[in-house]
Amino acid sequence: MSDNASKTAPETVTAAKKLFIKTYGCQMNVYDSQRMAEAMGGEGYVLTEDQAEADMVLLNTCHIREKAAEKLYSDLGRLKPLKADKPDLKIGVAGCVAQAEGEEIVRRMPIVDLVVGPQTYHRLPQMLRGEAPRILTEFPEEDKFDHLPQNRATRRAPAAFLTVQEGCDKFCAFCVVPYTRGAEVSRPVQRILGEARDLVARGVREITLLGQNVNGWHGAGEDGREWGFGRLIRALSEIDGLDRIRYTTSHPNDMADDLIEAHRDVPQLMPYLHLPVQSGSDRILKAMNRKHTAVEYLRLIERIRAARPDIMLTSDFIVGFPGETDQDHADTMRLIEEVGFGTAFSFKYSPRPGTPAYEREEIDSKVADARLQELQALLTRQQKAAQQDMIGRTLGVLFEKPGRIPGQMIGKSDYLHSVFVDTAEVQIGDLAQVRIVESATNSLRGELAA
Ligand code: SAH
Ligand code: SF4
Ligand code: F3S
Repeated sequence: MSDNASKTAPETVTAAKKLFIKTYGCQMNVYDSQRMAEAMGGEGYVLTEDQAEADMVLLNTCHIREKAAEKLYSDLGRLKPLKADKPDLKIGVAGCVAQAEGEEIVRRMPIVDLVVGPQTYHRLPQMLRGEAPRILTEFPEEDKFDHLPQNRATRRAPAAFLTVQEGCDKFCAFCVVPYTRGAEVSRPVQRILGEARDLVARGVREITLLGQNVNGWHGAGEDGREWGFGRLIRALSEIDGLDRIRYTTSHPNDMADDLIEAHRDVPQLMPYLHLPVQSGSDRILKAMNRKHTAVEYLRLIERIRAARPDIMLTSDFIVGFPGETDQDHADTMRLIEEVGFGTAFSFKYSPRPGTPAYEREEIDSKVADARLQELQALLTRQQKAAQQDMIGRTLGVLFEKPGRIPGQMIGKSDYLHSVFVDTAEVQIGDLAQVRIVESATNSLRGELAA
């Protein structure tokens, strides 16, 4: 050892840099945030829950409704003092607002260092090193998944998301997704099975397959042939240790026979289906470019229920779409009555720049508010009834975390309800049979079945 070296001995342990990510919007963004964190891991960043200690703040944004998009700017406003205190702080904007507004974000908020779209975030490390433009929102030829770390380094948890399909080609008249996420692309079977096996090896027992049109997935199979979504689910069900499979979000027009049959045949496929319908009026469905009628939706539900009688259905509704009359609204209410949903999301129509419906005349805002209230009251009644129906039933529950009260564990039922159980006998990651004894506002209480 040289003299020189021994003199300059103080060990330089470079502390890991801290990354804070805030995620808005759908599950696909939750998944993307995890993948971005993994990509940044290679640059020496570790996640922090505390924004104040972050070296980089990444806001993964949603553009679906005006309110969602505006949140970005109020958050950035709140970040200004932090950046003033800490000039080295990097601020990045990812996700669907990044895609939709690009450079405009930096113009409005110069504190932003990086803007990256949902299909380009694999290049975040390069952007950070100054080896790529600091605004990247084109839809690249390459597939981001080929350029992300292959091994999933997600936090240990028994349930995980897995994106199998990106983008959307449906162009519903109100929706920004085809513009923010780009064209529909299905990931190949091999990649999906590989990622699923990797997750299971890390202790994951439940996987939710994600896509904006997930049931429209069709990909190159391991045999070189084109597979449909039902076949993919069957292949996943053969993975040892993968106990539960879910998927979201689906389009009614892509509920193929082989998928309905999978609901009948594959025990790992949970009896739960989120199938957005948006409206019960044929006139409005047509104006929305949904390409099916209310009766076609109802027939489809009948076929699904025939295949899996105990399935729970959930949906999305938009209230106050341009041109919606009292009769249209009544038609939607009737469809809800007829189906009986376990729960549903409902939104007041929000005009989005760049979509076909944006130019159309809006209906009276107060009328839309009143309709939304009426519709939500009905959906709440249905949700209560569905939860009440669970009392006395014994369901599988996958335990995910301890409850706030010591001695309590919280898990998810087959139907995705949060279930509280007072027990010292289960651990995180256990899948146990639980008898439901009580229904609360948004959860159930149960006891371990003997
Ligand atoms: N791909 C999914 C929907 C993704 S967006 C599907 O086809 O069903 C999630 C939900 O947001 C939609 O189902 C719709 O109910 C709602 N939504 C989308 N655009 C909206 C808008 N402009 N105003 C209000 N709600 C909207
Ligand atoms: Fe949007 Fe329609 Fe595509 Fe769903 S199917 S993401 S609502 S355009
Ligand atoms: Fe929002 Fe983009 Fe998802 S607009 S709902 S984050 S696909």
